[in-house]
Amino acid sequence: MRDNNFLKANNARSVWHPMAHPGDSLKNPPTIVTGGQGVRITDIDGHEVVDGVGGLWNVNLGYSCDPIKEAIAKQLESLPYYSIFRGTSNDAVIELSEELRDFFEPDGLSRAFYTSGGSDSVETALRLSRQYHKIKGHPGRVKFLSLKYGYHGTHFGAASVNGNAKFRTAYEPLMAGCHHIPAPFTYHNPFNETDPEKLAQLCLNALEAEIAFQGANTIAAFVMEPVLGAGGVIVPHKSFMPGVREICSKHGILLIADEVITAFGRTGSWTGSRHWGMKPDFLCSAKAITNGFFPFGAVMISDEVAEAFETDKTGAAAIGHGYTYSGHPVGAAAALACLRETKRLKVNENAAARGKELLAGLHTLSDKYEIIGNVRGEGLMCAAELVSDRETKKPLDKPTIGTIAKTAYETGAMIRVSGNNIIISPPLVLTSADVQTLLTSLDAGFAAVQ
Ligand SMILES: Cc1ncc(COP(=O)(O)O)c(C=O)c1O
Repeated sequence: MRDNNFLKANNARSVWHPMAHPGDSLKNPPTIVTGGQGVRITDIDGHEVVDGVGGLWNVNLGYSCDPIKEAIAKQLESLPYYSIFRGTSNDAVIELSEELRDFFEPDGLSRAFYTSGGSDSVETALRLSRQYHKIKGHPGRVKFLSLKYGYHGTHFGAASVNGNAKFRTAYEPLMAGCHHIPAPFTYHNPFNETDPEKLAQLCLNALEAEIAFQGANTIAAFVMEPVLGAGGVIVPHKSFMPGVREICSKHGILLIADEVITAFGRTGSWTGSRHWGMKPDFLCSAKAITNGFFPFGAVMISDEVAEAFETDKTGAAAIGHGYTYSGHPVGAAAALACLRETKRLKVNENAAARGKELLAGLHTLSDKYEIIGNVRGEGLMCAAELVSDRETKKPLDKPTIGTIAKTAYETGAMIRVSGNNIIISPPLVLTSADVQTLLTSLDAGFAAVQ
């Protein structure tokens, strides 16, 4: 590896960073992370901080999870790669599929289709849901509905169901037949409704109205995150997702739960669907399935959908979709070890307990600082929305938010800024003391701009 001067001099010179302006990355070079231990990361200057981002909502077990590292090393020795396209499989992926079947049994999901990440998982679920309807003799069911503020990744399919212009406009035109309904977001909604339960009902009414407008027999699936993550941690009322389930079932529309963030414990429950007490037709997972140590994902499929595919006699169920790295043996081995550790450590319980502490701490900070307009969270996904005026909810300016994040970093916490939201999604294994470090550093950040 070249020395630090080389790395700093060339930082961002030849790399384009995702979700960043290349010019901005040159002007404000990114933090160079060189180490990770436990729930902490270390930068090139040896500065260590608690990782309030959890990698990117994915390093649920922290950076020192040896069983995953060992499983990866062992699998690289025995079988570093082979495809699972028609005609071949591998030992790790068969074992993983059985484990996932057990894990997702309470969600009514029993089959797995493997991917290389979250956008791939969403793309897979969108495609298979269209194919499902063709198998069932409803080829006209091709449209998708989703929530404004939702984030589903960056492939054209995923971007088309995304509910945030930031990820859409530059890449339009997107896929036709994708329509969005208002999100049950009490802080910003077109109904001016602040009561979560009433708002959930208004959004469900909007869903019904959109289905009537489009025609139920033109719609393949509705896709939503159980808790909206990248859109700013939007926590629906508990009636919302079961309500969506009921409406979808009534109209023969499949429900895709995008659990790329929420699967494996982050909300405090093992899945977001279970958190809200409903069963989806597809569940998209990725991220924490390997603790971020290997790019991997799985779309879990319900018994009913599986049966339609498996009993088809016409050939319509032949799957013309898949990735070179679907079922990658190293990813599968990583996922097996990760799932074992995830269950053994009961990280869902820690996420629920530490999440309460974090949310309470954020509320205390919002009592202290006017610029915190709204605080939201469920388990270990939390956000603070920053405003320059609580009345108008005008977003706080970028440079001020930058100073807050920089000060927080200097005083011990990496936090993520998305628009005018500060998003906190730490590893699920963090302690109460780590939560306090996050809060103290944020406090220092807000104090710096008072
Ligand atoms: C809910 C959700 N879906 C899909 C994705 C896309 O995943 P990836 O970046 O692995 O393609 C993300 C990424 O953050 C996500 O949060």
